[in-house]
Amino acid sequence: MEKAINTQPPRGFKRYAGCVRGYWLPTILTPFFMIFEVALEVVIPLLMAAIVDGGLYAREDFLLRSVIPAELRTGSMELIFTLGGLMVLAALLSLGCGMLGARTAAVASMGFSKNLRRAIFDKIQSFSFANTDKFSTSSLIVRTTTDVTMIQNVFQQIIRIFVRAPMMMVFAAVMAFNINSELSWIFVIAIPFLAASMVILVKTGHPRFMKMLKKTDAMNTSVQENLIAMRVVKAFVREDYEKEKFHNSVEDLKKAQVHAQKIFTFASPIQLIIMWTCTIILLALGGMRIIEYKAFGPGELTSLMTYTTQIISSLAMVSFIIVSLAMAKASVTRINEVLDEELDIIGTDSDLKVENGNIEFRNVDFSYTGDPENLTLSGIDFKIRSGETIGIVGGTGEGKSTLVQLIPRFYDVLSGEVLIAGHNVKEYSLYELREGVSMVLQKNMLFSGSIKDNLRWGDPNATDEEIIEACKMACAHDFIMRMENGYDSDLGQGGCNVSGGQKQRLCIARALLKKPKILILDDSTSAVDTATDEKIRQAFREYIPGTTKLIIAQRIASIMNSDRIIVMDEGKVVDVGTHDELMGRSVIYREVYESQMEGGEE
Ligand SMILES: Nc1ncnc2c1ncn2[C@@H]1O[C@H](COP(=O)(O)OP(=O)(O)OP(=O)(O)O)[C@@H](O)[C@H]1O
Ligand SMILES: [Mg+2]
Repeated sequence: MEKAINTQPPRGFKRYAGCVRGYWLPTILTPFFMIFEVALEVVIPLLMAAIVDGGLYAREDFLLRSVIPAELRTGSMELIFTLGGLMVLAALLSLGCGMLGARTAAVASMGFSKNLRRAIFDKIQSFSFANTDKFSTSSLIVRTTTDVTMIQNVFQQIIRIFVRAPMMMVFAAVMAFNINSELSWIFVIAIPFLAASMVILVKTGHPRFMKMLKKTDAMNTSVQENLIAMRVVKAFVREDYEKEKFHNSVEDLKKAQVHAQKIFTFASPIQLIIMWTCTIILLALGGMRIIEYKAFGPGELTSLMTYTTQIISSLAMVSFIIVSLAMAKASVTRINEVLDEELDIIGTDSDLKVENGNIEFRNVDFSYTGDPENLTLSGIDFKIRSGETIGIVGGTGEGKSTLVQLIPRFYDVLSGEVLIAGHNVKEYSLYELREGVSMVLQKNMLFSGSIKDNLRWGDPNATDEEIIEACKMACAHDFIMRMENGYDSDLGQGGCNVSGGQKQRLCIARALLKKPKILILDDSTSAVDTATDEKIRQAFREYIPGTTKLIIAQRIASIMNSDRIIVMDEGKVVDVGTHDELMGRSVIYREVYESQMEGGEE
């Protein structure tokens, strides 16, 4: 079993380089394939020029002449076929390299995003309750899905195009200058033009894309909240309101998207205008040279025009990557927020085990905000002996749940000490501490899967007998046996196939399977009828007498027979005693008791 529940992941560039782990080979191979693809693509126009000038026009000084064997005479069919064959070969090889590169790029980028997603998920698992309070669920989901996809796409573009496009530009420009350095000066004028217009587009586009991402977040939040709270929406007949809310957020998103994309409708016309202008100028100047001086072949002119297209389209590709980089930057920031989140509860590496169920609070203050002026609990001071059953009562919002959450260190105290079995909770590893303390939370959850799967969360190695024993104690055995597949029945998402009271009993059984030294039930029998509630407590007394039991309840009847009862009011322990003692001296306790008894008699 893993003991170090939380570790801090690396930061900065190292973090993202770390995500390439296991996929370095395809990551490095991709640019290589791309270089070969580009080199071959650049050779094709040369062969083309040689076919036209040497084969068709039988010019004496055509391109590649020096490398072609003398027996292939200019103007012959053999020359045309040989060069044509080479061209097909180059095209096929280039295609092959392109395909291999696309494949390795896909493998590398998918692997990268897998690792990144894992890192985020692992980090979220190590969050304490306080860390979790900071992020909304939907934003964590969007960060692990959409934002990672964004970075994955950019990663893929970078390893493919970031190498490919500049290579293409350099190769094509070198070739063009080789063919005709006078005419190639046209690129020197055209490229800055194109670059400048792309920079302007990216600059205006970036804020618009940021806005678009924010709207995407808003839409996701809207969908997610609605899905989670679907039953509440139905119960309050809020479907129309929800529909309108969603329609508005979709409308907003659409507007933002159109606003952002509009900018890029200019990109392609600008690119085309510059390309065609270059082509026309090339045709005019080159044509004049061919006709007047005969110093320049028509094939050479054709290849110059192809290089123009290659250079300009590569430049456009680079500018698009810059746009996506700008967009991905927003995602990187959002992911870093999660990965950089300071964990506020970090366990030690010690092997110390929880030996018994003694609990002691020594003058504990606690605040959710960490602000001593705004305390949720103050001056908590009491001792509980191993094996005692302790009831905790108090009005709603008085700090009962908060108090017990300090025991398994879901939150840390602001000042004072919480001790278990004589040791400060901070001396234990989180694993050992939470093995020793079992807690049934007020807002509880079951997971999709069978009943048995869910119960084994308490103890992965529990035998069937142990499971049945725990369920009998929690009064869950009978209803489980009445289900069609017994312990193998499926619970559905979030345990939706069982009733509220059944769910509570399953959660108690799950907690019991841990065989804890301390068992905490936070309002865990509120949906269970009084008779069953009593039976469960009876079973605790009989079967787990050595376990310390802390029971928070709204019903006084649920805790009346406890060894001692803690009464809480406004974040303070106002009294501790048996039922009879408290009836005698605690006004708060007596009032609650009497109001509940009256209610019972009516
Ligand atoms: N995660 C949280 N972040 C900030 N404040 C919180 C958080 N949880 C609870 N509080 C506040 O702390 C106070 C005590 O809450 P707590 O849940 O301990 O009450 P409780 O006694 O368990 O109430 P109930 O009987 O309704 O369960 C409340 O005022 C509540 O608003
Ligand atoms: Mg509570």
